[in-house]
Amino acid sequence: MIDFELTEEHKILRDSVRQWAEGVKDRIVELDRKHETDPEILYDMGRQGFLGICIPEKYGGAGMDYISLAILCEELERVDTSLRVPISVHVGLNSLTLLQWANEEQKQKYLIPQAEGKKLAAFGLTEPNAGSDAKNIQTTAVKEGDYYIINGSKAWISLGDTADHIIIFARTGPKELGHKSISAFIIERGYKGFSSQKIKGKLGVRAGDTSMMYFHDMAVPAENLLGEEGEGFKIAMSALDNGRYTVGAGSVGLAKAAMDEAINYAKTRIAFGKPIAEFQLIQQKIAYMVRGIESAELLIWKAGWMKNKGYRNTKETSLAKWHATDIAMEVADMALQIFGAYGYSDEYPIERFFRNARGARIYEGTAEIHQLIQASYALGYRKDKPLRKELPPWPFPDDV
Ligand code: CAA
Repeated sequence: MIDFELTEEHKILRDSVRQWAEGVKDRIVELDRKHETDPEILYDMGRQGFLGICIPEKYGGAGMDYISLAILCEELERVDTSLRVPISVHVGLNSLTLLQWANEEQKQKYLIPQAEGKKLAAFGLTEPNAGSDAKNIQTTAVKEGDYYIINGSKAWISLGDTADHIIIFARTGPKELGHKSISAFIIERGYKGFSSQKIKGKLGVRAGDTSMMYFHDMAVPAENLLGEEGEGFKIAMSALDNGRYTVGAGSVGLAKAAMDEAINYAKTRIAFGKPIAEFQLIQQKIAYMVRGIESAELLIWKAGWMKNKGYRNTKETSLAKWHATDIAMEVADMALQIFGAYGYSDEYPIERFFRNARGARIYEGTAEIHQLIQASYALGYRKDKPLRKELPPWPFPDDV
């Protein structure tokens, strides 16, 4: 049975997140203008329970379903992308990855404080010379006694200068083994040899922390290996199945906000003696916006429904992320066109939506990577393999 109706819990969540996000809007716009970040907003998200939204209660979370995660992202990104990005990395890429792959000790030590919002979490896969080509990372981890000694760097890491815990990926064997010599580690900001630096001059997400991370002879306790040696690439890809979902869901929110702004403006702006909303070329843009947003939302909901069921959703999530991020960009562009010159100014939020939408077509899998993934599934070149550990379905089983 297919059910598109939101539950009472979903509606309460949507309304309360919207109210919270509207409450920080002025501050976020100010931060965006100054290219500054404010970690206090993230800790407040923790107090609201957002950072543990779909983590089981036994691990300190709210125990809500994966559709709730999409609703949270949509509502946050209606206001600004820098509010949604922390959910993508803290919940999508890190906490859900711990839920899926970590052992009990690691869950107790890292997942619980993250779900409770007491510690912030991030994810470091990308390197200066390995973005789309993630199998090509150069960071190394060499086992010495009870530690791995890690050397290398990571680039474009959201919350990289803020997070307390980070899941990173490094090579524990020869490069010739390809992805089979990549392993995952949980690291802490306080480790000796760790440093980070914010990236300046970004086009969008200016109120968000995007950073470089450096590891210089960083000793990581061997018990912080996540999963098994050589399993890191699969862990990274499974993490992206969740991160991409949150990016897509947030993009739907951005697109809805841009459309709402465009509709309000079109109804009040007078040209040639009448509101521009009455012109057919404006209506055509609104119609395209509606079509794009509805289809993107349906793809997100399908991926979320599959996550709730415990079905593998790599293909569906990739499609939803690709489509929703393209739609957000198109809608922001059409909204800017409707606003005319005013859309080009920061007097209205459209230029911020336009700048913020652009990055999501690059991070967590470029639009081109998602096209390759879709084509390889359709051609039968790509088939999902069962994993050693799967993301739990919702409602969460007792032994999760
Ligand atoms: N889950 C689990 N395992 C998976 C998987 C998934 N979703 N997808 C593939 N695998 C497994 C495969 O089954 C295969 O296993 P075997 O060796 O046992 O056969 C293994 O992983 C390798 O798979 P492929 O050879 O098929 O690799 P691929 O072709 O799927 O990967 C790629 C190529 C699609 C280009 C991939 O490298 C990719 O997605 N690149 C983009 C990376 C990306 O999105 N980076 C953004 C990171 S975000 C970040 O770091 C910063 C931040 O703050 C957000």
